[in-house]
Amino acid sequence: MNICVIGSGYVGLVTGSCFANCGNNVTCLDIDKNRIKSLKKGKIDIYEPGLSDIVERNFNAKRLKFTTNYKEAIENAEIIFLAVSTPPNSDGSANLDYIKNATMELSKYINNYKIIVTKSTVPIGTTYLIKNLIKSQTDKEFDVASNPEFLKEGSAINDFMFPDRIVIGTHNTKANNIIKSLYEPIIKKGTKYLNTSRKCAELIKYASNGFLATKISYINEIANLCEKINVNVEDVSIGIGLDQRIGSRFLRPGPAYGGSCFPKDTRAILATAKKFNTNLSIIKSTVKSNEQRHKILLDKISKILNNKIKKKRITFLGVTFKPNTDDMRESPSLKLIPKLHKSGAIISYYDPSGEKIDFKKYKNVNFVNKISNACKNSDLIILHTEWNEFKNLNFKRLVKKRNFLIYDMRNIYSHKKMISNNLNYFGIGR
Ligand code: UDX
Ligand code: UDX
Repeated sequence: MNICVIGSGYVGLVTGSCFANCGNNVTCLDIDKNRIKSLKKGKIDIYEPGLSDIVERNFNAKRLKFTTNYKEAIENAEIIFLAVSTPPNSDGSANLDYIKNATMELSKYINNYKIIVTKSTVPIGTTYLIKNLIKSQTDKEFDVASNPEFLKEGSAINDFMFPDRIVIGTHNTKANNIIKSLYEPIIKKGTKYLNTSRKCAELIKYASNGFLATKISYINEIANLCEKINVNVEDVSIGIGLDQRIGSRFLRPGPAYGGSCFPKDTRAILATAKKFNTNLSIIKSTVKSNEQRHKILLDKISKILNNKIKKKRITFLGVTFKPNTDDMRESPSLKLIPKLHKSGAIISYYDPSGEKIDFKKYKNVNFVNKISNACKNSDLIILHTEWNEFKNLNFKRLVKKRNFLIYDMRNIYSHKKMISNNLNYFGIGR
């Protein structure tokens, strides 16, 4: 099939390259000329494991093309995916300007029957808005459907090729059959295919992320209680996770959830609920709990440093919102590091994905490109992101100072082992 994906960011590029990998002819379009220029040279500015290989392979096989030219991309396409940014407005609602711009632009080039599919996370009812916009521009036959993405950064290719489910929102049989045949190579491997209404598909995405975010805030608050009653939250997490109705995943306590989706999508569904005069009190408290979590962690840091943060040398191992990505969007470190810097700490950080522009403005916050150099003079080591290379460190060899402390915000290490090695070790919920 001939596909066009508008928006060649994380989601658009994964979507386009994976569809090409299934044998389709795909054109990835973007308004960012530089991004398209570097993609044409096989350069990807996105840190996503496996993405550059799959792009290169399909680009060389001429199944994957890149362009900024709407006419060429739309006229040849049977299905057009919208994967452009939907950033939050100040009130948390999703900004649809890019979706509208892309829709008006593509409408000009509908030369035969096409299906326009929203891949970006869009507020409930956006597919109707898109349909009306296109209808105002052309009398050609077309359909609009919703096909939300459930890609996790760091495992996006695998999540695309082996999803738990494919959700297609359209009650138009012809459109549903065409989209289903596009996903055939994935469905025949056993993935569940759910056809529903467009609004339901749009809500499924928000409701999924809202629930996953709630699971995380839930276990984070249980962890707070565990610290007070001296119970290991990991045992609680295993104990409740064995219940099939709860499930063991997304029950790991941490410094707060971050990323480009959970924070944005939870705020967006709250804005939608407000618009429909509905109170989603559970997601509201999930968001509040997550946004306040850094205060609890900073209190703990202050306590373990005997309230003496000034001039203390603190090392962050990892600053991204999760491992295997360079994405800093709403990472907990963006709140923790500036606050500790303000309290007079001298901060070094190491992250496998490299130096971060976010911290350049702070005098005493420095990127160090080797773990050993980042740790050797530390008073406190904070394990912020669970990158694999932090999982087997010999701290006694790494840190020259005596009585240094370790705050493991991801419970990477065994509490028992660390204490038995006479390390001043603190975890989350343990
Ligand atoms: C995007 C949405 O932000 C997210 O809500 C949705 O779930 C999936 O698509 P992501 O791919 O991470 O997520 O966004 P981003 O990495 O910012 O890429 C968006 C791309 O769209 C950028 O390359 C941008 O240049 C491009 N774009 C934006 C267009 O091509 N046209 C536009 O009008 C606006
Ligand atoms: C999420 C959803 O998982 C995905 O389905 C959706 O399409 C996009 O948003 P992503 O944000 O890429 O994916 O990462 P995810 O692995 O979900 O982690 C999100 C945040 O939750 C990270 O900050 C992570 O550290 C945190 N997290 C995750 C926890 O704190 N505990 C957990 O058990 C799992």
